[in-house]
Amino acid sequence: MAATAERVWITGASSGLGAALAEEYAAAGAQVLLTARRREALAEVAGRCGPRAAIHPADVTRPDELAAVLDAIERDGGLPDLVILNAGTYQPMGLAELDTAAIAALFELNVFAFTRSVELLAPRLRARRGGHIAVTGSVAGDIGLPYAGPYSASKAALVRLCQALRPELAVQGIDLSLIEPGFVRTPLTAKNDFPMPFLIDADVAARIVRHGLDRRRFRIRFPRRMSLAMRLFATLPEALSYPLRQRMLR
Ligand SMILES: NC(=O)c1ccc[n+]([C@@H]2O[C@H](COP(=O)([O-])OP(=O)(O)OC[C@H]3O[C@@H](n4cnc5c(N)ncnc54)[C@H](OP(=O)(O)O)[C@@H]3O)[C@@H](O)[C@H]2O)c1
Repeated sequence: MAATAERVWITGASSGLGAALAEEYAAAGAQVLLTARRREALAEVAGRCGPRAAIHPADVTRPDELAAVLDAIERDGGLPDLVILNAGTYQPMGLAELDTAAIAALFELNVFAFTRSVELLAPRLRARRGGHIAVTGSVAGDIGLPYAGPYSASKAALVRLCQALRPELAVQGIDLSLIEPGFVRTPLTAKNDFPMPFLIDADVAARIVRHGLDRRRFRIRFPRRMSLAMRLFATLPEALSYPLRQRMLR
């Protein structure tokens, strides 16, 4: 049965999809707890979410800050029913810009902040007898494309981690969901200088995400045509997919 969570912790909530999710859940009656690094931007989002919204500024790549936020949330009202680990970033990087330190920083945010959050959350949710954790991946995790290798690799890592963790979390009463958007209009995509097929607005994306999370779906992929296009590309034989990749070179 579909039900909207009543207390939701959202990371990456100061802009883009996270801010839209905060507003979507607040409009549905949930109390939203918002995390990102920029306090003022978070406060602005919270202002649009009503008086029950709370901000918990932190850099989620810093284990001490992440743990302190979770402690504060638990202390001030208990563990959330739903955690949306949405903080993430994208940086185009082709061969000329290949930079392992930058890739490590990307993985710290897109992958290790997720595993650290699960490390912290799982025992507490198990003790409470259940909960729901969601993480924002991307349809970019389906395939490697020129200039997007490190980003795709980080989102592909989330797919494998979620597939592996889901059954183990399930026996502890914890649901896991993987949100995989196509192109969404946010500050992250505003810097893209290429055509973005099937681009959708962040409020539309947030509505789709809540619909899927209310039903505790495992993989929430949208928009449908972008999701299908990426799945189709992933199934192409390499003799067909590499000429397509070659044509993407600038
Ligand atoms: N937009 C798309 O088309 C698209 C498609 C597929 C997947 N996604 C994924 O959706 C998620 C949200 O992206 P978006 O498009 O909404 O981008 P965005 O507007 O740039 O939002 C990113 C959010 O993450 C926060 N953040 C970044 N580094 C952080 C850190 N170290 N600690 C805490 N928070 C941090 C940012 O806030 P602060 O700067 O205040 O910390 C911001 O709130 C990401 O995981 C992204 O990969 C987006």
